[in-house]
Amino acid sequence: MKKNHPQPPTMKIIDVTPEHEETYCQCLEEWSDEIREAGDYKRDWYARAKGGGLRVKLAIDENNVVGGMIQYLPIEQSPAQGTGLYFILCIWVHGHKQGRGNFQKKGMGTALLQAAEDDARRLGAGGMAAWGVVLPFWMRASWFRKHGYKKADRNGMMALMWKPFGADAKAPAWIRPRKKPQGAAGKVVVTGLLNGWCPAMNMVHERARRAAAELGPQVEFREVRTDERAVFLEWGISDALFIDGREMRNGPPPKYEKIKKKIARRVKKLR
Ligand SMILES: CC(C)(COP(=O)(O)OP(=O)(O)OC[C@H]1O[C@@H](n2cnc3c(N)ncnc32)[C@H](O)[C@@H]1OP(=O)(O)O)[C@@H](O)C(=O)NCCC(=O)NCCS
Repeated sequence: MKKNHPQPPTMKIIDVTPEHEETYCQCLEEWSDEIREAGDYKRDWYARAKGGGLRVKLAIDENNVVGGMIQYLPIEQSPAQGTGLYFILCIWVHGHKQGRGNFQKKGMGTALLQAAEDDARRLGAGGMAAWGVVLPFWMRASWFRKHGYKKADRNGMMALMWKPFGADAKAPAWIRPRKKPQGAAGKVVVTGLLNGWCPAMNMVHERARRAAAELGPQVEFREVRTDERAVFLEWGISDALFIDGREMRNGPPPKYEKIKKKIARRVKKLR
């Protein structure tokens, strides 16, 4: 059951403003080397997405410090299939000690979700959808369940949660993989599919690119940009890393050394 905590009276939810755009593009983690490693993909994606249906809200505390963010867009622009719903790409309340510090468990997440739902309703949406991991890490599906969301679909560890606003709303579904990268004779092919909105994915992509380059001419890095809707629909995959035909799939973003080791193992097999 959802606990009822009084919302701190001085906390505010605001739409992102130009002064906060850089903070938002760094997911509130300006202190993090990993965010720098993720490159400029999110900035570039945001520059294109902000003129479209993307909505971004921030939670700010009594000292005007941004503690949390939520970003959502029409589901027709998301990795899920549906109509007339909004899809939460990401909700994040800064939880690290570094930088701005830990803002979790003060009601910011709940307030951000409520504000996004109110906004989506006002925009005429039939409901809200969101992804969540079925295990207790990263963005948990169970957090959305506590806030009245139900499971609409599941693809491996990724649950697609949703909250209809009315009886007419239709449940969304995941768009499933439709195509797989191919290997090539005499070399190792590393394929990075990348949308650009998520620094965690962007960082893995950049690590793989760097590792592939360091391992020399026997390794080819191929980039597939899925922010182009037609490309995403052709593949049915938004963000993923494949070494030859095999997806590297393991919860938290894999470290550079791990990616390099995996590619190197394939290179050895060429001989
Ligand atoms: C999930 C998440 C958004 C929730 O944000 P949050 O601000 O911590 O959420 P809330 O404070 O509204 O609620 C969290 C808990 O704090 C409790 N809480 C809320 N207000 C409180 C208050 N004033 N005092 C004490 N506790 C409070 C809630 O009851 C809730 O408890 P429970 O979940 O154990 O039942 C946040 O934890 C998060 O960002 N997690 C990581 C998700 C992630 O990886 N996102 C990136 C995806 S790309």
